[in-house]
Amino acid sequence: MRLIRANDYRDMSKKAANLIFSQVTLHPKSVLGLATGSTPVGLYELLGRWCREKNLDFSHATTINLDEYQGLGPTDETSYRYFMDTHLFHSINIRENRTFLPDGMSENEEEACREYERIIRSCGGIDLQLLGLGHNGHIGFNEPSGCFPAHTHAVALSENTRLSNARFFKSPEDVPYKAYTMGIGSIMKAKKIVLVVNGEEKAPAVRDMIRGPITPRMPASVLQLHPDVTVIADEAALSLL
Ligand code: F6R
Repeated sequence: MRLIRANDYRDMSKKAANLIFSQVTLHPKSVLGLATGSTPVGLYELLGRWCREKNLDFSHATTINLDEYQGLGPTDETSYRYFMDTHLFHSINIRENRTFLPDGMSENEEEACREYERIIRSCGGIDLQLLGLGHNGHIGFNEPSGCFPAHTHAVALSENTRLSNARFFKSPEDVPYKAYTMGIGSIMKAKKIVLVVNGEEKAPAVRDMIRGPITPRMPASVLQLHPDVTVIADEAALSLL
């Protein structure tokens, strides 16, 4: 694992946006795996600005997001599709039909997961996967469990994760109980992984991800086995290392 130290959130966002800038400039047809949540908001904002000001060009790129809540459609302000449209897709020149998220409105879980795996395969796999880190070590919505799930699957969100995501909803009861997530196997198949993390409250998860045993109880620890992972973390997130 390569570790890049950032002074603060702004610096972390800039360093990560630079890596994506290089990826898309060197390989315009890149397939980018993307994450939602608070952590990537700053870097998405920069990518939007660089598209307008520095000719960053996403017109040949494809994006595949990690996850989506079950039961939330694209126009629901708390869905991840809406989040991606607002924070990134509407600010860059990507073609809408080259942006993929699991179908949260599918009534058939197995079918929704199969279809997402088909999409990942048809894009030829992921060139650069961007990840955030959950307080409990989750990546995507792969929660701590007894195994590392390989493929896209439906997952029951832990109470910890529902509580921590409640800030995006009107009330904590509105947070869905289930979501679809890309599996650990698909994440590990990405050619490069860039994980962004900031804040003191994530420091225990960062320590366990980098120094702890590789275990599905701390899903991000599996990244120790990937040959090309870059962790970009601010000083606060690194305070326990
Ligand atoms: C969301 C996702 C999650 C988040 C994680 C951290 O697509 O993949 O694993 O990255 O929950 O969320 P924030 O950035 O809000 O702390």
